Amino acid sequence: MTTLIKGGEVVNPHSGTVEEEDLLIENGKVSSILPKGVQGSTSAVSTTIDASGKVIVPGLVDMHVHLREPGFEYKETIATGATAAAAGGYSAIACMPNTAPPNDCRAVMEFIIEQGRKAGAAAVYPISTISKGQKGESLVDFCELAAAGAVGVSDDGSPVINSELMRRALEYAHYCGLTVISHCEDLNLSKGGVMHEGEISTRIGLPGISGASEDIFVYREISLARLTGCPVHIAHVSTGVSVELIRRAKEEGLPVTAETTPHYFTLDHESLVGYDTRYKVNPPLRTPKDVSEIKGGLADGVIDVIATDHAPHHSLEKDVEFDKAAFGMIGLQTALPLTLELVRDGIMTLPDAISKLSSKGAAILGIPGGEIREGENADLAIIDMGCEYRFEEKDILSKATNSPFLGRMLKGRCDLTMVGGKIVYQRDS
Ligand code: DOR
Repeated sequence: MTTLIKGGEVVNPHSGTVEEEDLLIENGKVSSILPKGVQGSTSAVSTTIDASGKVIVPGLVDMHVHLREPGFEYKETIATGATAAAAGGYSAIACMPNTAPPNDCRAVMEFIIEQGRKAGAAAVYPISTISKGQKGESLVDFCELAAAGAVGVSDDGSPVINSELMRRALEYAHYCGLTVISHCEDLNLSKGGVMHEGEISTRIGLPGISGASEDIFVYREISLARLTGCPVHIAHVSTGVSVELIRRAKEEGLPVTAETTPHYFTLDHESLVGYDTRYKVNPPLRTPKDVSEIKGGLADGVIDVIATDHAPHHSLEKDVEFDKAAFGMIGLQTALPLTLELVRDGIMTLPDAISKLSSKGAAILGIPGGEIREGENADLAIIDMGCEYRFEEKDILSKATNSPFLGRMLKGRCDLTMVGGKIVYQRDS
């Protein structure tokens, strides 16, 4: 079957260009890219997709998603998460291992891969734990788990406190071709906190989580990257100090990469004055100064990746007293339009934004994607850049609705997502 996508403007994050091109797709791959005005043979075309007035981007790649299966299927399943991802323009997502049981062995890994394959939506890549049972005591067998399909390792929200164990994790994971992803949090310092420690937490009487609890571990991971020469990826950067530490590490040439998420460049701790638990997330929403420094890190390339940290929770875990509510917010269907706000504000170019949403994450994990190129898999999304809409509960394909962006006007919407030439999401017009 041959598909022609015609009339769209194709974003190339590698060359930094946006050009009107037609795409011919055969056997799941991009077989030719025809520049504007060049007429290819259309005799064999069985389906034509009109992308006039739209932008075609490489399928987005989210390196930080929580899919909750196995163990917490009441919050999200692999199928519902992968479907929500496809609706957000994602062709691939990597899922964190904080399931029950945690993804620390071949059996869980194979289960996740199989469920992802069956879902037939965005491709699902598993991230394994660093330590057995996420307990921070002994390492998993990285090479065995890499062979079983792991694309990275992380203990996620239960970070490895023992620096010697983390050093070995960096060394062994690198040897097995896996990148360590670190959720930077000194749990002793953050213990009991429910929001950013500062003026607002004092005013509204909630226990705080200081920026230092993140910065200390970012500094440790940078020190370990320097000591070992092995790569480390810093998850969901939320503080300006972290951005500056990573900036200096990069200037020094250390193998450190970093991600942030749309909520850290869109929202700040003032959102919490109404005690709305949809804003409760870990790390917490920080100060307006942090938000501006994160934007600076996105603008100058210190922050490589925009991930979502999509964290679905059931209403029974969110519609409760603030201190009892679960941390986390969903994000797969809002990341693209929120990132496009920064493009319109001149903070990033469109190709740069798409690179942070796709190719950079793919490269860090060593998975396919992030480029529309002849001979490569046809993983792409068609975006209606001008579409303005209010984000509502009916739009959400995730099982959970814990989004702080419900009710917000968004601009830019995914019309169609293709994985390996197959349409996995198409918006009703
Ligand atoms: O807010 C969060 N929720 N932060 C994390 O690091 C974990 C996540 C979850 O699993 O719910």
